[in-house]
Amino acid sequence: MKTTTLTALLLFVPAVLGLLDPKIKAKGKKYFGSAADPGTIGVAIDVTILTSDYGAYTPENSMKWDATEPSRGSFTFTNADALVAFAQAHGRLVRGHTLVWHNQLPSWVSTITSAADLTTVIQNHVTTLMARYKGKIYAWDVVNECLNEDGTLRSSVFSRLLGENFIDIAFKAARAADPAAKLYINDFNLDAPGAKTSGMVALVGRLKARGVPIDGIGTQTHIQLGRAGTIAANLQTLANTGLDVAITELDIASSTSSANEAQQSADYATVARACLAVARCVGITTWGVSDKDSWLGAAAAPLLWDTNFVRKPAYTGVDAAFT
Ligand code: G3I
Repeated sequence: MKTTTLTALLLFVPAVLGLLDPKIKAKGKKYFGSAADPGTIGVAIDVTILTSDYGAYTPENSMKWDATEPSRGSFTFTNADALVAFAQAHGRLVRGHTLVWHNQLPSWVSTITSAADLTTVIQNHVTTLMARYKGKIYAWDVVNECLNEDGTLRSSVFSRLLGENFIDIAFKAARAADPAAKLYINDFNLDAPGAKTSGMVALVGRLKARGVPIDGIGTQTHIQLGRAGTIAANLQTLANTGLDVAITELDIASSTSSANEAQQSADYATVARACLAVARCVGITTWGVSDKDSWLGAAAAPLLWDTNFVRKPAYTGVDAAFT
């Protein structure tokens, strides 16, 4: 087949047959989502897939602190605006990502030395971003990756100056800025029982006891091959806090060998069924569309479409779980 014919076919097929978002909705969930950003919403084949199979978009980088407030009080929203406009044009949800995170944090924040000053800075950052997109963002990852692997509070400029209270400050500012948005705490390695999961459950318990406005726990779910079996029970453990839960950044590091592709397909099906099995699981977001653009690199082949935008067995696994 000529390359042009094949390309035309690939552009056409997902739009006709792509159904993951409608299928998860038919199972009572809110969305099947993907990370997106200028690198994908500006590419025709990505747009075709994003609009055929995905009902929610998370900006992969463009709402992070270094992208939105690179210097104090000076905000840049070009890429974030484009992502929100794209979602609105297609009637899709947006998960805002992320307001307070130790990573991709501009140095002017890291060098703050006064608790009072940092409090004002957090409040201004959260308020400015959320006010700009008020009513257009379904859920925000308000605080990202605040725990160590042993479940204790990660050391960052935020925790060093404010202790755990930085979380309260961020969530209170978030609720005030957009009362309708769902407010999430988001972290990785919450896929199996252990100190980090217990630490998250305990932290959420303390936040709720203090009256901090929080609606959900995001479990990123960046996992290795063969590690999906504990996810359903762990999602339920997180949901037992009384909050919503969401799988926010799913990818499964693998390779292109056929044995690994088969295992990856089974793992994707297991993760998809895990969300379906947990009543408080609202949806699943994959961390990108194709292996070509994954943060893990194409060799890890972690997503549902390959580098030529052909659906992988992983796609079939998710599709089977939703059918
Ligand atoms: O924007 C610069 C560009 O100006 C420069 O030329 C280029 C050269 O390397 O770098 C660009 O920045 C990169 C940025 O992505 C935007 O493309 C950074 O180097 C790169 O490190 C950054 O990676 C992102 C990573 O977060 C950073 O922490 C990934 O794309 C993104 O997928 C990843 O996403 C995180 C979630 O936000 C939180 N959970 C973990 C997940 C995976 O790490």
